Amino acid sequence: MKRENIRNFAIIAHIDHGKSTLADRIMEQTKTVSERELSAQLLDSMAVEQTHGVTVKARSVRNFYHGADGQEYEYNLIDTPGHVDFSDEVAKSLAASDGAILLVDATQGVQAQTIANLRLAIKYNLKIIPVINKIDNVAADIAATEKQLRKLRPEFASRPILKISAKTGQNVHQVLEAIYQEIPAPTGEPTAALKALVFDSQYDPYQGIIADIRVFDGHLQTKQKLQLMGHDSSFTAQSIGIFNPDMKAVPTLTTGEVGYLVTGLKDVQALQVGETITTTAHPATTAIPNFKPAQSMVYAGLFPKGETSYEELKQAISKLALNDTSFHYKPEQSEALDAGFRCGFLGIFHLQIIKERLRTEYHVEVLTTAPNATYQVYLKNQQPQGEYLTITNPVEFPDFAIIDHVCESFVKAIITTPNTYLSAVMKLCEEHYGELLDIDNQQDLVTLTYKLPVSEIAYNFFNSLKSLTHGYATLDTEFLDYEPVDIVKIQTQINYAPVDALDILVPRQQADQIAHKLVEKLKYAIPRRLYPMPVQAIIENKVIARVDVPPLRKNAAVNGEQRSISKKQQLLRRQSLNKRQAARSDIKLPQSVFDAVLNLD
Ligand code: GTP
Repeated sequence: MKRENIRNFAIIAHIDHGKSTLADRIMEQTKTVSERELSAQLLDSMAVEQTHGVTVKARSVRNFYHGADGQEYEYNLIDTPGHVDFSDEVAKSLAASDGAILLVDATQGVQAQTIANLRLAIKYNLKIIPVINKIDNVAADIAATEKQLRKLRPEFASRPILKISAKTGQNVHQVLEAIYQEIPAPTGEPTAALKALVFDSQYDPYQGIIADIRVFDGHLQTKQKLQLMGHDSSFTAQSIGIFNPDMKAVPTLTTGEVGYLVTGLKDVQALQVGETITTTAHPATTAIPNFKPAQSMVYAGLFPKGETSYEELKQAISKLALNDTSFHYKPEQSEALDAGFRCGFLGIFHLQIIKERLRTEYHVEVLTTAPNATYQVYLKNQQPQGEYLTITNPVEFPDFAIIDHVCESFVKAIITTPNTYLSAVMKLCEEHYGELLDIDNQQDLVTLTYKLPVSEIAYNFFNSLKSLTHGYATLDTEFLDYEPVDIVKIQTQINYAPVDALDILVPRQQADQIAHKLVEKLKYAIPRRLYPMPVQAIIENKVIARVDVPPLRKNAAVNGEQRSISKKQQLLRRQSLNKRQAARSDIKLPQSVFDAVLNLD
């Protein structure tokens, strides 16, 4: 296809505003798929997406459209996820697009996620087409939604705003027309050296890494010898193709086109999303400037559980990390839980999704420890001065006696919420030590910018925000800097044996209170034994709180049953033997113990 007739675009919207439905209609009206094939929503095929009802992985589909101007166009539709914990995924799809359809549900109007996604699209310099959806719905307030949209951007004020029903297909052809009329054709030089951006990738056990790519310059052919610009590795293009919507091999991908590349690479570390691919014969000199992968905000331990072995978990995690650039991992050895991985996530929801994807797609069971933020620890008499330890695991937090001071990562949290919840949201941020940086009103919505310590948003912040705004607020975070904080480590001993996997780092001000809550929670979460077990929370070598996990059965010594003295003595001997044995860390900790640490509010 001629470069002038190619259009690469994404659909962006608030959750449930009809993105997948519009994608289906576009595929149907361009005859990419038949109506019958669409009975199940094609783009949301991953099992986890079906359970959560959200799109997690971005995908691209090529459609051909005969425009009213008599020309044939190639429309590459790049699907984006809706959840803000996946703004990195949104960024990936936007890096490969030239335009975006901004879809707004006429029954709900402009929502927080509409604004959050619009902000990203503007950042990527995309041409934006505003579209009102669900006009067939009796509850639609088209005029009010149009008014809101017009005020959102100066360029929306006087332009036509399309009004469609993605469900019935009404006016969807107007969207198809607007795409070639408004979104620019991709730029690039077809005769220049090949430059292709890897914007996503999957792992296939037989074919190795399959990269989703966009060709920015030159062209790509099957069997071409290729190399990576940011990495010293070369390989042969096994096959190349497009999603139509299933994989379909093609001989060439030219400048501006989007498709897949079967690399045959089996080492999952060999190809990272964001890489530029070029040819070995005529390599390009500069890489494509690219989106910055989001930094991990929270860290947690992932350990194999049940039937799953360490090796199985390792395989699954490395494959998953391949197409999720914001998920990081490294091996970890825990005394209580044995071999596992220390993993970095964008947020708690991201952690939950990863856990669920491991279960449903890779059939591995994992135990997750309580998440924490990143700390920089400066030691006393540190030489050279200014050097610090980066701590992502509380187990590695040094002894308090040698610590000079600790800095914690802070984020800029951009929260968009309906006006009604403004005071509740501000109260929540203040309770989490937030500092208000900016406040911006957009009609019925308000965008607040706060500076917040990551540890404060790592646990329940997002859930609290969602529940007090009835799901209407969005949260987008950007790393800001590190600042001094007063942090202490709470260590837990169960039956006098330290359990490293339960170590947590908390603000000193709240440490005593948290220690008491922690042991109380553990009292009911730890599996009982035949004898009582003390659970102790220790801060800086002092026991701050203690409870006893009650025994499974009544204690032999105080048992009201009629027993001979010698029988009681025998029982007591057995109990004390059990106790001594248990003082080593042989206690199997179920997930509920770690969940108890998560819910200390
Ligand atoms: P996420 O992937 O979760 O962000 O959702 P989405 O934006 O892809 O929304 P989806 O297409 O799944 O639509 C959400 C709901 O709205 C579904 O029940 C659709 O059937 C319904 N819906 C979508 N478009 C229309 C429309 O034009 N009219 C009506 N009445 N309902 C629609």
